Amino acid sequence: MTVAARPWLDQIEPYRPGRHAATLEGSMASNESPLGASGAVLEAVARSARSAHHYPDPLADELRSELAVLHDVDADQILVGNGSDELIYLLALAYLAHGGHAVCADPAYRIDEISTQVVGGRLTKVPLKDWAHDLATMARVDADVAYVVNPHNPAGTVRPLQELERFVTESRSRLVVVDEAYIDFADDPAGMTALPLAAEGRAAVLRTFSKIHGLAGMRVGYLVADAAVIATLRKIRAPFSVGTAAQAAALAALRDPGHTQAVRNHTLRHRAELTRLLQEAGYAIVPSQANFVLAEAPDESELVERLWRQGVTVRPGTALGMPGTVRVSVPSSAGLDLLRAAL
Ligand SMILES: Cc1ncc(COP(=O)(O)O)c(C=O)c1O
Repeated sequence: MTVAARPWLDQIEPYRPGRHAATLEGSMASNESPLGASGAVLEAVARSARSAHHYPDPLADELRSELAVLHDVDADQILVGNGSDELIYLLALAYLAHGGHAVCADPAYRIDEISTQVVGGRLTKVPLKDWAHDLATMARVDADVAYVVNPHNPAGTVRPLQELERFVTESRSRLVVVDEAYIDFADDPAGMTALPLAAEGRAAVLRTFSKIHGLAGMRVGYLVADAAVIATLRKIRAPFSVGTAAQAAALAALRDPGHTQAVRNHTLRHRAELTRLLQEAGYAIVPSQANFVLAEAPDESELVERLWRQGVTVRPGTALGMPGTVRVSVPSSAGLDLLRAAL
């Protein structure tokens, strides 16, 4: 083959997904839900198979209208995507292609970084300060898009709404995107979400069904933003990117708040135990508001390999731009026992 990829693609370091362990309990590398999806989701997905021969609803209208009611925004302010990752790529295509400029934290969520590089955009990375976004420094960067991941991945830290509001007001960036993939695990999700800013069209908020709803394999996320932003992304998206089963799964998950609450309760309780366990094993940890805990581990690769041999996978910080750390997802009770024994 003689075809050559665009030259700037040579610079891209491919995304390295977390490894699965031999058992579900032992898999603590990808921030997946240890409780799985709700029973209602399994039934809805099975039912949706009857429509397998039809193309899916291109804009996921039923899901979009329920989300609009839930978040008190207009349905035209919502775009459903094939995971929030698809929406991040669409944002990059629309606002960062051919020399656009993005600002994000260092370390960034890898997809923010990769999507910017893919479209030939430029990225300014601002190191975390005390493990959290340095919003004051980020605000001074004159960019097209500013990415704030709140809670941050992989640090698990949050910036309160007041600070975000100040950032949105003072930032020199034209579009502030707040990625709230992990917000359901924070102490006060309702008090810290940037959705009120998105409702006013002052920011864009990304949400996913992959975490608290346990639908990572279904691929559903959504963006809440100014209707003009949504209209632009609608023009450039692939029309059928969110499958029928995925839409059915997301709707069923949304209508099962009992399961969502159970996952939150489990996560908060087991996060505290996970924190204690890591500390007792001699690791300093970063207090987390997400469904994972970041531990400082000077013995990173040795620790990752030792746990792997004992049936536990965790994410090496090097793969996430934070060498000398490991990120451990909050596991099931059995997973916690496995980790305790392995440590
Ligand atoms: C910060 C952040 N944003 C977005 C995502 C991706 O979500 P989705 O599965 O909806 O593509 C992740 C997944 O790990 C994440 O950590």
